Amino acid sequence: MCRDVTFAEIVESGAKNVDDAQRKLGVALKCGSCVRYIQEAITTGQTEFALDHEFSESEADSNEKANAL
Ligand code: FES
Repeated sequence: MCRDVTFAEIVESGAKNVDDAQRKLGVALKCGSCVRYIQEAITTGQTEFALDHEFSESEADSNEKANAL
């Protein structure tokens, strides 16, 4: 996905939030399309998403982060 880093790699990195994933892996620094998925992966451990995936309650924070990019 973002910068050829997979969601599994993000989860395995131990990143605690999107900011942490940015620092550790350099993801989520461009378009922001991945932010809500990264947040969801970190929150739930899920590493694959259906196109119609319904996000957990962390979506508000993720959207805020994506809009800041
Ligand atoms: S896909 Fe991650 S910043 Fe664009």
